[in-house]
Amino acid sequence: MIHKFDVVIVGAGGAGLRAAVEVPKDHTCAVISKVFPTRSHTGTAQGGVCAALSNEEDDSWLDHAFDTVKGSDYLGDQDAIEIMCQDAPRAIIELEHMGMPFSRTKEGKIAQRKFGGHTKLENPNDPNSKRIPVNRACYSADRTGHVMLQTLYENCVKNNVNFYSEYFLTDLIIEDGICKGVTAIDMATSEIHVFHAKAVMFATGGYGRAFRITSNAHVGTGDGCALVYKAGLPLEDMEFYQFHPTGLWRLGILVSEAARGEGGILRNNANERFMEVYAPTVKDLAPRDMVSRAIISEIRAGRGILGSDGTYYINLDLTHLGKKVIDEKIPEITGFARTYLGVEPTKECVPIQPTAHYAMGGIPTNYDTEVFSDNKGTKVNGFYAAGECACVSVHGGNRLGTNSLLDIVVFGRRGGKKISQFLKTAEYTEFTGDPTERTRQQIDSLLNLSGGENISNIRKDLQQNMMDKCGIFRNEKDLAENKEILKQLRQRYQNITVQDKSKVFNTDLMEAIELGNLIDIAESINESALNRQESRGAHTREDFPNRDDAQWMKHTFITKADSGELKIDYKPVVKTRFEPMERKY
Ligand code: FUM
Repeated sequence: MIHKFDVVIVGAGGAGLRAAVEVPKDHTCAVISKVFPTRSHTGTAQGGVCAALSNEEDDSWLDHAFDTVKGSDYLGDQDAIEIMCQDAPRAIIELEHMGMPFSRTKEGKIAQRKFGGHTKLENPNDPNSKRIPVNRACYSADRTGHVMLQTLYENCVKNNVNFYSEYFLTDLIIEDGICKGVTAIDMATSEIHVFHAKAVMFATGGYGRAFRITSNAHVGTGDGCALVYKAGLPLEDMEFYQFHPTGLWRLGILVSEAARGEGGILRNNANERFMEVYAPTVKDLAPRDMVSRAIISEIRAGRGILGSDGTYYINLDLTHLGKKVIDEKIPEITGFARTYLGVEPTKECVPIQPTAHYAMGGIPTNYDTEVFSDNKGTKVNGFYAAGECACVSVHGGNRLGTNSLLDIVVFGRRGGKKISQFLKTAEYTEFTGDPTERTRQQIDSLLNLSGGENISNIRKDLQQNMMDKCGIFRNEKDLAENKEILKQLRQRYQNITVQDKSKVFNTDLMEAIELGNLIDIAESINESALNRQESRGAHTREDFPNRDDAQWMKHTFITKADSGELKIDYKPVVKTRFEPMERKY
């Protein structure tokens, strides 16, 4: 079946929905998603969305931008960061006007809390005074992403956006540098649908499912990024993958940084507040890359707590916060601790470990979400990307908590606006051949494989090796080994058997396609990590422990040729007003 829409947005998380809201009513817009929109991964974002509103204390967008640049370990593009931080207060008020129910101060203003890496000068008149945590994260208890997603979905429904839920993205159709549409499978029937469009936006989210312990929903398999990579287009800064310090031990389910924003403390097996050593000024509210490294360093030094299964964890102590704060400000995550680990957070510490959380890298775009086909800024006509799948790059080497919900609303809206301008002159461009052919071939060949390899076994091996050899600490030996392992996994993938041959909700087939996507994503992460011989942000090379601005203050662009050969190019980082400095907290 062929559908025609002026705009097709793939992904119904915050970025996709915010872009859809912006499409003018005289143009048709469809949003395709492999889950029902309000089940998108944005709904799991917990602690907040930041903006220098100054509702509770003095703050400024410049402080926010400074923190974001420093948090990014100077890899973030400063022009894009300035745009995002300057636009943040407007974006929050807009969400409030759309109906988003924020938590409130006693005076009725939007409440704000502290989050890692968000700071202000202790003495605003002294630029040399130390920087201390600031209340910058606007929140709705610990369900901020959930209410944001609901709000944006309601606004899309009001604007008559067309939804294709439970449609699985299978192909990106770019011919002669023009993006003409996508194909997707209707999961209920396995029928292939073509979405012919003037403009396509990918808002397909991240790929935490490439790692064994992750906070990401099962949908986080990087489908959009993988299709871009398969199309021979570049992915940017894939080596920068964020581990959130506090996932529930062994499960990876997110325990929001809001817990520490509200005063929670990380403790080792001697009950010591070890973050005092690693980040003396901001302590538990240091940026995520630092806290995650500190946790693993404590465990490696024998100061972790031994769990019943022989693995180690660290304690998150909330007991001093009191029942009222726990019940009112962080009810969701403390509920998770009770349900999944059987601990009572008002009385006992919560066992945690770092969890694969967020992709700083992705599809290269400018700050209007237009996708680049190379490191020189050549655009793919009619193709846009926003949200976690995109690399603008506002997060550089390490994202600050609460900047992701901000990113999706700021750049989702900018993308919607840019597309609206484009639609004034854009036309549909005809396909050169049968647009379903590649999808049909891919599905037929997957269904015809009969080597007997089990899909979930390959996925487990991939996730474990990415965790062990390409996780928080990396080195050449492990990355080189992982490269070979990934090649073997790709060969094993050629020998899978899709057991289910039926057409109705064939999740076996979907998982086979997702696994192929994860193998591509893992390859691009590992190769980019092997190539970058320095430590910056979330990319920590034990064999190159220092940041090397002279050699490496540049973005990685990785592409894969049809021959399978991988190529790396670079793009300079954009600097406006913030000079790189040592990153101490
Ligand atoms: O910790 C959290 O609540 C996560 C927020 C984020 O990733 O921005």
